[in-house]
Amino acid sequence: RFFLHSFLFYTLLRFILTLFFFFKINSIPTKPIEGQKTGTSGLRKKVKVFMQENYLANWIQALFNSLPPEDYKNGVLVLGGDGRYFNREATQIIVKIAAGNGVGKILVGKEGILSTPAVSAVIRKRQANGGFIMSASHNPGGPEYDWGIKFNYSSGQPAPESITDKIYGNTLSISEIKIADIPDVDLSNVGVTKFGSFNVEVIDPVSDYLELLETVFDFQLIKGLVSRPDFRFTFDAMHAVAGAYATPIFVDKLGATPDSISNGIPLEDFGHGHPDPNLTYAKDLVNIMYAENGPDFGAASDGDGDRNMILGTSFFVTPSDSVAVIAANAKEAIPYFKNSVKGLARSMPTSGALDRVAEKLNLPFFEVPTGWKFFGNLMDAGNLSICGEESFGTGSDHIREKDGIWAVLAWLSIIAHRNKDTKPGEKLISVSDVVKEHWATYGRNFFSRYDYEECESEGANKMIEYLRECLSKSKSGDKYGSYVLQFADDFTYTDPVDGSVVSKQGVRFVFTDGSRIIYRLSGTGSAGATVRVYIEQFEPDVSKHDLDAQIALKPLIDLALSVSKLKEFTGREKPTVIT
Ligand code: G6P
Ligand code: ZN
Repeated sequence: RFFLHSFLFYTLLRFILTLFFFFKINSIPTKPIEGQKTGTSGLRKKVKVFMQENYLANWIQALFNSLPPEDYKNGVLVLGGDGRYFNREATQIIVKIAAGNGVGKILVGKEGILSTPAVSAVIRKRQANGGFIMSASHNPGGPEYDWGIKFNYSSGQPAPESITDKIYGNTLSISEIKIADIPDVDLSNVGVTKFGSFNVEVIDPVSDYLELLETVFDFQLIKGLVSRPDFRFTFDAMHAVAGAYATPIFVDKLGATPDSISNGIPLEDFGHGHPDPNLTYAKDLVNIMYAENGPDFGAASDGDGDRNMILGTSFFVTPSDSVAVIAANAKEAIPYFKNSVKGLARSMPTSGALDRVAEKLNLPFFEVPTGWKFFGNLMDAGNLSICGEESFGTGSDHIREKDGIWAVLAWLSIIAHRNKDTKPGEKLISVSDVVKEHWATYGRNFFSRYDYEECESEGANKMIEYLRECLSKSKSGDKYGSYVLQFADDFTYTDPVDGSVVSKQGVRFVFTDGSRIIYRLSGTGSAGATVRVYIEQFEPDVSKHDLDAQIALKPLIDLALSVSKLKEFTGREKPTVIT
């Protein structure tokens, strides 16, 4: 009895101490783990790798070891993810290590859910020191598939390489993990739990983000379109995080019918899907949009809600055109841009459609390497408002991430604005009408990307080395079939804001007529190497604008494959994805 009583007394005492005063911090010895270097967008591996002892804990601790203490001691951090398998366990691990390292407060999305753009929005609104995103973006989820983690800092922007390199360095020398001895946090209810000086606040994943979007767009204008009986809208959330946002935003706020949202419940394995909104992996949506009498507007977004695909009736808007059309119409159709569009930017492989808009509107224009993190400095410096990438990313300086729902709302705003005076019964100005009109004004940049996923790394690396050799021997005026070389290089970028330089960002062959062939290895895969080949050709002649991109680009595509000896190096006859 005495023992039982003293045990109960001790447990109660610890509980009270934890609640009101302090908690114990355990120091767990650990050893460095190889291969924890982050890619284009955080650390991504098979979930089984992350589930190995201390794998995640090491990286999180290495991150705290890399930040200046004033950036997190007693500070505020945000944590959320795309709902994939392992996020719940990871949430508890991260919360405890944050507490163990002296963080003051952590804001966690309910059920661990926060889209990537929502994390960025919450960091900015709550003036947090930074945040973690648990996602492998568009990569499949579930016990056999991928997991990932990314850190964004106080502007809401993905951590720059100066920070991620430091984290990597620290993963190679780590010896101790500081973890708080506190119970698991209940993620199912919004509210604050205190553990001494450390607070966990479970937040609604939608409200801060939605509040921000309502300051960017004219929701009444969009509602007027979406609730029209002659406008049929469909959104495929791909069983990913956008499901948590689609109904509150499109249905409850904008008047879309509940059945216009498909795959709207986030699932740990995305319903066995590959949550990447492109013509291959969002096939169901594509089939609906290309069926006879298909809807007027279709969209999808990816695992963590930052990518988007926009479709009209039997019409696909390439991401490179999408950002150009949004930029060209932003001032009229979107209140946030009414007074000023500060500048435009795209990633290097993205087509030059946006360049033409910048030129015509006389706006500052920037070309950055692949990776959203490169836009942030330009935004923070007030030089950039709207940007996009060919990889289905579009966004603006309302946050520091690309934003799938923002892109859908931007397009709905444009269509709504154009149809302000369209009476019931009259034919609506459609997505394809808007794009074709854009081509007629600016010319069309035909664009396609060929992906060869999960190639053997050796062959893929050799191909890039071979291309580097080719370009070092090339000179302006060289003939490539009917194309004449203007220059060839391996893209180097100097950040105009902080002067940092990144090199080897993609081998490009640029021809005198503006056509381009670009080769890169993806930085976001988790197995083998993914070769990307980007092909672009400008066409000013309106009579040729209706050609299929694959037909218009055939000669250039053939040239791209032969110049690189792609089949020889990779053994691949065909790409796995064509965009
Ligand atoms: C992520 C990044 C993008 C990037 C894309 C493709 O979505 O946020 O900035 O364009 O991946 O990157 P990759 O290295 O796979 O071509
Ligand atoms: Zn993503």
